[in-house]
Amino acid sequence: MAEKRVLLIVGGGIAAYKSLELTRLLRKAGVAVRPILTQAGAEFVTPLSLGALAEQKVHAELFSLTDEQEMGHIELSRSVDLVVVAPATADLMAKAAGGLANDLASTTLLATDKPVLMAPAMNVRMWEHAATKRNLATLRADGVAFVGPDEGAMACGEYGPGRMAEPPVIFEAIMALLGKGASPLAGKRALVTAGPTAEAIDPVRMLTNRSSGKQGYAIAGALAALGAEVTLVSGPTALGVPVGVTRVDVESAREMLAACEAALPADVAVCVAAVADWRPADASGRKLKKGAGAPEPIVLVENPDILASLSKDARRPRLVVGFAAETNDLEAHAKAKLARKGCDWIVANDVSVAGTMGGDRNAVALVSASGIEQWERMAKDEVARRLADRIADQFA
Ligand code: C5P
Repeated sequence: MAEKRVLLIVGGGIAAYKSLELTRLLRKAGVAVRPILTQAGAEFVTPLSLGALAEQKVHAELFSLTDEQEMGHIELSRSVDLVVVAPATADLMAKAAGGLANDLASTTLLATDKPVLMAPAMNVRMWEHAATKRNLATLRADGVAFVGPDEGAMACGEYGPGRMAEPPVIFEAIMALLGKGASPLAGKRALVTAGPTAEAIDPVRMLTNRSSGKQGYAIAGALAALGAEVTLVSGPTALGVPVGVTRVDVESAREMLAACEAALPADVAVCVAAVADWRPADASGRKLKKGAGAPEPIVLVENPDILASLSKDARRPRLVVGFAAETNDLEAHAKAKLARKGCDWIVANDVSVAGTMGGDRNAVALVSASGIEQWERMAKDEVARRLADRIADQFA
């Protein structure tokens, strides 16, 4: 492994002494450690011991002229492969979740564009407090990885979860994140469809559906986070473009198909869009006037199937993934869909569970020729990260 660099933020907790051991393990493995010691952290370990073990200058103050001249805090936050917070105190987690930037550690966390791993350590009541739970969920959704905390006797005399994970465990988590490389999908092109389509009836009326686009957007973001060059072909949604993603806005299924074809060649296509199956045969160029009684019945014709069409394309991506929203017989339908559409994987989700459509959580099964894997119910962002990891495995 080429020399990897870790920015280690040591927060203020009794577990800070374990970060000295962690630093030693990292150095022994040839990993460079750039340490930041928070003011509270310095109450538990000295800059001298941390600096001696890291064989590096310890950064401590945000507005230190010497530090800024040697290496500005923004540069510091980006000059590494991974940012590790150990111990991650309740306070540091809250600051990071809230996007505060009022000292070197929090500013660095806000400024970094590198993956972040946190090893929480705090009293059990603090860990179990609703505020910490909220912050944890926010940080997870932001892509922060966690190791620990462990359950056990605490320095404060209580018992429960909140002990920082042991240094060898944090070390393993760091090595796994570094080993995966920051960008396993670098150089790969990904195409993702998301959101509903809108099929015009006339210039002001349309046929559409309740898809929020959240799952597809999360997948586009997760693929980009792994280094892929992502084109997101999106129907109308209220969502912002994920970091590092190029969005192409479309309305109808036919526009979506054309935009997808224009985005080829791609290495992987993930079709998450809830494409309208039918569209009005003749969209009126003029607004239909309200007359006496109801208008003529709207005649519907079938829309192109984008997933099936990409699977058959001469420039077919190596991996084509479809989604299936089912209310019953999930597995049987997913398997049939795999065959019918000609794709490699189907991510089947049970939309009979209230709140799935438009909600933030999803229980899915990954169906491929080699079998079915049921994933537990989790946040759509987590589904996206797992799926992106699985896709990265295919290209490893
Ligand atoms: O056939 P069904 O709509 O259940 O299939 C869902 C999968 O097919 C999704 O991956 C969806 O994005 C894709 N699809 C498509 N074009 C259509 C209909 C569905 O790409 N016209």
